[in-house]
Amino acid sequence: MSRKWRIAFVALSALITVLSSWSLAAAVESDNIFLHGAKLSRPVLNIAHAGASSLAPQNTLAAGRKALQVGADLWEIDVRLTKDGIFILMHDKSLKRTTNVEEVFPERSPWLVNDFTLAELKKLDAGSWFIETDSFKQIKEGNVSIEDQQSYSGERVPTLREALEFTQKNDWRIDIEVKPMDYLPREEIAGKLVSLIKKTKMENWVMVSSFDHDLLKAVKRLDPDIPIAALVIFAPWNPARYLEDLEADAYGPSPVGFTASLAAKLAGLGYGVYIWTYNQADQLRHFATMEGVRGIYTDFPQLLEPILDELFGPDED
Ligand code: G3P
Ligand code: CA
Repeated sequence: MSRKWRIAFVALSALITVLSSWSLAAAVESDNIFLHGAKLSRPVLNIAHAGASSLAPQNTLAAGRKALQVGADLWEIDVRLTKDGIFILMHDKSLKRTTNVEEVFPERSPWLVNDFTLAELKKLDAGSWFIETDSFKQIKEGNVSIEDQQSYSGERVPTLREALEFTQKNDWRIDIEVKPMDYLPREEIAGKLVSLIKKTKMENWVMVSSFDHDLLKAVKRLDPDIPIAALVIFAPWNPARYLEDLEADAYGPSPVGFTASLAAKLAGLGYGVYIWTYNQADQLRHFATMEGVRGIYTDFPQLLEPILDELFGPDED
């Protein structure tokens, strides 16, 4: 080989080495737990439903902090758009159940999220209702400290951006459930969502779930790399075919739409199966060992965590 060719050969090999180490780094960076093939430190994910909602007001940063503290692998949140087009965390269409909106804006019945601007929403107390209703009876049972209870009063409605930043800061994961908003074009909702996920550089840390499957399609069209989960109450006629047509990454069945054989089948085909919502220790234990179940949504992540530790060993992450 002539000297000229030898130099060219050495330069080419060096270039290949640099390029392959770059692509390896990119592969490591894009290791997304929601995607098929990603390795989990335990086979089942502890998913805090709207945060640790038995211990803190649902869909608030306090519920996220509590879920992180008790060891959940990720938190699920519900999002809706305000009147001025900002995603905020809220389960219901109306603000009435989980804020003091009736007191602050008595004339604005039925207090729909999309009738309020973010500035107005930020005036609301989204925590006191939790203490007043104690709907999971965890205050009564002495599982919510006085300090925690005091800190919840005056808790604000978070924006999705705040929830994403909190998740990122803690090197955590998040499932964004987009509630159906049929008064807006799906492309517009998906566009805002994907642009926020990209702006906050959260592509590898989120999954987007919804009962609105056309919205999920719109998200996939905009960014095929963002994992999407189809939530269902009743199973479609042929779930495997349905998920394939939707280009979904995951399936989120209610107890009605869920069978053990379906979970095993879908998991075998590479879909994540995340089931909702279970809160009893015997149910959590039962489903945690069921073939094909990759994650369980629970209002009691503090109860699921020791069960997963016992079944699979402590979480290494
Ligand atoms: O993600 C599953 C579950 O959260 C869907 O139902 O009403 O609890 O938001 P819901
Ligand atoms: Ca939800």
